[in-house]
Amino acid sequence: MRKQAGFSVREPGGKTVSEQNYFHVPAEWASRAFVDKAGYEAMYKASVENPEAFWAEQGKRIDWFEPYTKVKNTSFIPGAVSIKWFEDGVTNIAHNCVDRHLEKRGDQVAIIWEGDSPTESRKITYRELASEVNKFANVLRNRDVQKGDRVTIYLPMIPEAAFAMLACARLGAVHSIVFAGFSPDSLAGRISDCGSKVVITADEGLRGGRKVPLKANVDAAIERLPEPVDHVIVVRRTGATVAMEPGRDVWYHEAAEMVTDECPAEPMNAEDPLFILYTSGSTGKPKGVLHTTGGYLVYAAMTHQYVFDYHEGDIYWCTADVGWVTGHSYIVYGPLANGATTLMFEGVPNYPSNARFWEVIDKHQVNIFYTAPTAIRALMQAGEDPVKKTSRASLRLLGSVGEPINPEAWHWYHRVVGEGRCPIVDTWWQTETGGILITPLPGATALKPGSATRPFFGIVPQLVDAEGRVLDGAAEGNLVIADSWPGQMRTVYGDHERFEQTYFSTYPGKYFTGDGCRRDEDGYYWITGRVDDVINVSGHRMGTAEVESALVAHPKVSEAAVVGFPHDIKGQGIYAYVTLMAGENPSEELRKELVAWVRKEIGPIASPDLIQFAPGLPKTRSGKIMRRILRKIAEDQFENLGDTSTLADPGVVEDLVSNRQNKR
Ligand code: WT7
Repeated sequence: MRKQAGFSVREPGGKTVSEQNYFHVPAEWASRAFVDKAGYEAMYKASVENPEAFWAEQGKRIDWFEPYTKVKNTSFIPGAVSIKWFEDGVTNIAHNCVDRHLEKRGDQVAIIWEGDSPTESRKITYRELASEVNKFANVLRNRDVQKGDRVTIYLPMIPEAAFAMLACARLGAVHSIVFAGFSPDSLAGRISDCGSKVVITADEGLRGGRKVPLKANVDAAIERLPEPVDHVIVVRRTGATVAMEPGRDVWYHEAAEMVTDECPAEPMNAEDPLFILYTSGSTGKPKGVLHTTGGYLVYAAMTHQYVFDYHEGDIYWCTADVGWVTGHSYIVYGPLANGATTLMFEGVPNYPSNARFWEVIDKHQVNIFYTAPTAIRALMQAGEDPVKKTSRASLRLLGSVGEPINPEAWHWYHRVVGEGRCPIVDTWWQTETGGILITPLPGATALKPGSATRPFFGIVPQLVDAEGRVLDGAAEGNLVIADSWPGQMRTVYGDHERFEQTYFSTYPGKYFTGDGCRRDEDGYYWITGRVDDVINVSGHRMGTAEVESALVAHPKVSEAAVVGFPHDIKGQGIYAYVTLMAGENPSEELRKELVAWVRKEIGPIASPDLIQFAPGLPKTRSGKIMRRILRKIAEDQFENLGDTSTLADPGVVEDLVSNRQNKR
């Protein structure tokens, strides 16, 4: 990216995956699970042959104040993209995730909270959850939060994060959670994009024994806003002394003392917004992915039940953060809609030791465990001892999400963590999809390590070539989804045109996922990674353009190009090629300064792993950066640079190759 502007072309890419033998469904699973192989085939067929009837039935899994009479009203046609499900139904998500369970399971634990320190945990029953959510809703209501208002949540993984989400849902306010690892700048951009007047935060976060100055970050973010926010609600977590601005800032525990724990649930149309979640794309600033009420909840609840085969009484743990979509759909909304017991973990996998995950599983007798390949790879490097010293006898099912799981990590997860007895559900989906789209069902699907296997009910994946021709049988191409499903995003907040442009213009009439994918002769799907300029760092999505614009904002940088490179733990690392302004000289010091700069601009997850100072970048004669070449160099594929004859100055490639950074 140059100082002013510019973006790059999409190129096919991705890693190859090796196929392994099937792991067949264990006998006890075939009999205990909600869905077996024959059941899957029959139900899948019904779901795609008659989606109206299928979803009319599935919609009944939640309570409706006014039943829907219309089920599906969707169009993927460019210029007229419109997605509506259950459009005349009226419901409320907090009612479905909390109130409706009170009669039957008021005393059942809804949330098990495990603190950063192993000495801290808390159990919250559905009855207590109802009281907490209502109080939180009343605190918001007293600050004039109404249906349709946006509320930004910048909280660590504490129960109040779930209370705040459900409180918004109860009032019909639209929450926008910003991951607590994002910088004040990133937070400010997200507050102003959706026009939040209320921010919910904590004094500090606590992760791996380290404190994160959340309230101070909020203050810094607000300073950057063109207009101030009206209210900052501060949850006390560590007890740190923080600046409180009179009239604007209030301690949650003090405000909560002033309110009752009764608050009516706002009647919400199925298509009223539930939340906005910002995610990175290949160009521009992060997009506000908008999800709505009825279809989202039906889809989150249904996938949670079938994919994790969630039965009454199971203890379920998803290790994600509520700052990402996985936390929305599979820590809070899906599990609570199903009356599940969901575990929420504040800490990190390696604190106080590499046995933490496994100790928590024993401590709370977890049956279903859902985590990310990057965590598995990191723990795999710590060896088997930390795992083996725990029992894990309660475990029945393992899950994976966020990026392709390499077969080596899959086998370790299966053999060491699950002792060969637990199926692994490798779930492919996206912030945009709201819930899982391609996945095994543990009682139905034979597994192949590294493959997300088969589509969920109602999902019609297709592979297309660069011209948009649909490929049949065993093939590799770009992954599109041919028709809508209830959990799909509805728009980019405030920019419907960008929604159409990003997802429906490349292959008109189809939803384009941005992923490359192979389908094998058994109809199994193997995601090969992004085909756009998005990289996946530790399961976190990062637009290379965002990192580039952070770099070029530095006074000494004239141009930057960012690509991914294979990283043992993170999956992909961030490799930045940087051209300095005339007169500036490369140095180790400047390298460190630039890394710190990007951390400050975006957040630690965006820190470049490697920075290569490049006097020139490979460009075509029309000035377009040839990122294909930069990617190859970053991947150490020097022999495969391809045709460089169209470069304006082929000499730059030699310099780039000989100065390849290598610190792995
Ligand atoms: C991208 C979406 C969905 C929750 C977490 C990430 C990649 C996600 C898998 C998987 C292969 C996967 C894709 C996708 N991805 N899960 N099981 N196998 N790739 O959500 O930040 O919206 O990222 O993550 O590339 O497009 P996200």
